[in-house]
Amino acid sequence: MSIYYSKLDWPTLPVQYHQELIALSQSATTIRPPGQPGDNIYHHYRLPEHIEKWGRDHLPIDDRYHLRIERFFGVSWIMPHIDRNGRIETCNYVLSPSGPTTRWFDKDKKIVESVVFPQHQWYRLKVDVMHDVINLSTERIAFTIHRPLHKLGGAG
Ligand SMILES: [Fe+2]
Repeated sequence: MSIYYSKLDWPTLPVQYHQELIALSQSATTIRPPGQPGDNIYHHYRLPEHIEKWGRDHLPIDDRYHLRIERFFGVSWIMPHIDRNGRIETCNYVLSPSGPTTRWFDKDKKIVESVVFPQHQWYRLKVDVMHDVINLSTERIAFTIHRPLHKLGGAG
């Protein structure tokens, strides 16, 4: 049992949506001209309406949560960071092959936890603590759910 991540007992995404989401995350990389800062590192996109509806109908979330497909590619390492918007946690369902390792750090930059998230299972992970992702050999694609907060402790 870790304070940084936990497996969620949520319904798995229907298999007929897997390839559709992977293809969407890969094709949508052309929506911005190449070469913009961050362009080859991280993208996230809205879901097709029917998959958004599946998520809202089947997952234990309310209207404040955002459902997205995200793709990291073109780098082997996502540098240590704290997620934006005062997010506390994110729920991820990895669609690309397992392999990338998520690590968390304490205030002295010592690694305090690491995990390789398996494919096709929901996990909750803590993102308000410094973390990075290594072993991104090609890309990491995930169905991701989070509740944006504009500031920590906000009412949102
Ligand atoms: Fe992050």
